[in-house]
Amino acid sequence: MKTTHRATFGGRLSAVLVTAGSAVGLGNIWRFPYVAGENGGAAFLLIYILSVLIMGVPIMLAEFAIGRNTRSNAVGAFRKLSPRWTILGYNSVVAPLLIMGFYLVVSGWTMEYMIHSITGDFTHVHTADEYAALFSAFTQNPWRPALYTVIFTLLTHGVIALGVQKGIERSSRIMMPLLLVILVVLAIHSMLLPNGWEGVRFLFTPDFSKVTASTFLTALGQAFFSLSIGLGCLVTYASYFKEDTNITHTALQVASIDTLVAVLAGIVIFPAVFSVGIEPTAGPSLVFVTLPAIFNTLPLSMVWSTIFFLLLVIAALTSTISLHEVLTAYVHEEWHLSRRTSAWIVTAACILLGIAASLSLGAWKWLQIGGISFFDLLDFVTANILLPAAGFFVCIFVGWVLDRRFMPQELTNKGTIPLRLWPLLRLLLRWVCPLLMLLIFMDNIGII
Ligand code: PHE
Repeated sequence: MKTTHRATFGGRLSAVLVTAGSAVGLGNIWRFPYVAGENGGAAFLLIYILSVLIMGVPIMLAEFAIGRNTRSNAVGAFRKLSPRWTILGYNSVVAPLLIMGFYLVVSGWTMEYMIHSITGDFTHVHTADEYAALFSAFTQNPWRPALYTVIFTLLTHGVIALGVQKGIERSSRIMMPLLLVILVVLAIHSMLLPNGWEGVRFLFTPDFSKVTASTFLTALGQAFFSLSIGLGCLVTYASYFKEDTNITHTALQVASIDTLVAVLAGIVIFPAVFSVGIEPTAGPSLVFVTLPAIFNTLPLSMVWSTIFFLLLVIAALTSTISLHEVLTAYVHEEWHLSRRTSAWIVTAACILLGIAASLSLGAWKWLQIGGISFFDLLDFVTANILLPAAGFFVCIFVGWVLDRRFMPQELTNKGTIPLRLWPLLRLLLRWVCPLLMLLIFMDNIGII
């Protein structure tokens, strides 16, 4: 099947909204606040923003250029540009599959929590300890989290099955604005809580004593994960951009929306945490234990917690859609199968991995390596190894291997719009990003 009749996103805003849909996800609302909480709050935020600007945006631009130029799935894209670099394309389809393994599990939790909130089940639970017990009972339950993982995968499948325009584009155009509205409402509500300003201060007053070498890698890994870098998502989505999409504007807008959402999520969560005097360093369970306990102390607790978990479901869904699409586009175009069959193959693979990851937290405790559960391993390997490695090689590929004119051509839409800041971008892609990444990496494995 040749790729001549590829879909393109229609509306003007679509490129931004759809890509922001991929970028904005559990990474922003679940992961960012707890990682920031564990790494000193504002100091982390600052290093995070620098990572986004210096490394995130340039690499995002490079991936956009690769995708739109080749109009192919991630593997096909690298192969078209240089067959020797096809391996980078394969990394871009293996990583999303591994991410799906744990991402779908957490997405499933958000859905279960949303349903519990709607049915009012949480009203019987009171203290944070009771919530913690509920959360661990739930994640270790042999079948419920697995069931929700399957349901969430099927929901993702449903959107993918509707196609690029009717499924992906249309759903993002509805879900992204809704997500922003919910987030702003929740942020205002949180700031008005008694003691809420403590939380805001925690997020905006840097304490550099908490910053260590590993903070930089964590910030970089978080920035890459949050911007969906190194996973073929940006390449695949850009392959659906129109010829005249301004990729520089798109990248800047997506990075801004993504960072804004992470900060807003912090503003939702930290004031709430401080207002009831819980430690902000609670880790991954922050959103599932601390927050419901806090909501419960408020009037209309059911409404707030339903809205909050709906927010998480939407954020997760627009991201799982993008991960699924990378894989579906790959199977469809490279294995020459129909889109429908391809989507089912991907869904089946995701379900198997998701169930294994989910069970590794409870019934299948033996599914671990070196004491780390399969679930945590998927998270660690992708965020700390595969994504930064992919980012590094994308820089080398675009900065050193491809023709010098490749990036300027894509940035200017073949000379139809002005080329701005190119010397800076070139410097970042060729030298600054790869060297910084190398330093951070070597530092973390203890070489320097
Ligand atoms: N960026 C998404 C988030 O922040 C996760 C994701 C990573 C989605 C990579 C697609 C690709 O949650």
